[in-house]
Amino acid sequence: MDAEIRKTVLRKIPHGLFVAGVAHEGKVNAFTATWLTQASFHPPMLVMGVRRDSKSFAMIEGGRVFSLNLLGKDQQDIAGEFVKPSQEMSDTLPGAASRTGKTGAPILEDAIAWVECEVREITNPMGDHALVVGEVIDVGQRLDVPALTLMDTGWHYGG
Ligand SMILES: Cc1cc2nc3c(=O)[nH]c(=O)nc-3n(C[C@H](O)[C@H](O)[C@H](O)COP(=O)(O)O)c2cc1C
Repeated sequence: MDAEIRKTVLRKIPHGLFVAGVAHEGKVNAFTATWLTQASFHPPMLVMGVRRDSKSFAMIEGGRVFSLNLLGKDQQDIAGEFVKPSQEMSDTLPGAASRTGKTGAPILEDAIAWVECEVREITNPMGDHALVVGEVIDVGQRLDVPALTLMDTGWHYGG
């Protein structure tokens, strides 16, 4: 397999761009995420690829919940706030105003819409990213506008 072509081809797969929120033992965190898709209608489920070496993955394993914050086309700057590993974690998020969702995971005040999930399965033992399967237990919408995608930003995560 040609590694350059693999990278070019895999990067053509369209993705959204989100901020995922996590919570465990009274602490919250959030990270920019793009490897995400719906995985079931009944019950409604999402699957998200999460770096096994991230702080958020450890919190997902412990807290078994996550939120998904959808951003508008003009909100790339918010996604940019959550691309670096968090330093110190507390009961509030640095970098953006948020509130606590039903699951305990943080919901960004400026998100155009959000989804809250309870984790039902964590799999993909071979991968450097785990597949986190979540059942959608709540959703909300602040603005009915098109959501930010990875392609809108010119950023890459894949290959
Ligand atoms: C454009 C972009 C997309 C990303 N998508 C994902 C993703 O889908 N899953 C993931 O685990 N990390 C993704 N990341 C990396 C995380 O945002 C990054 O590892 C974050 O620093 C983890 O923070 P934490 O250690 O505080 O959890 C992405 C980064 C960028 C720049």
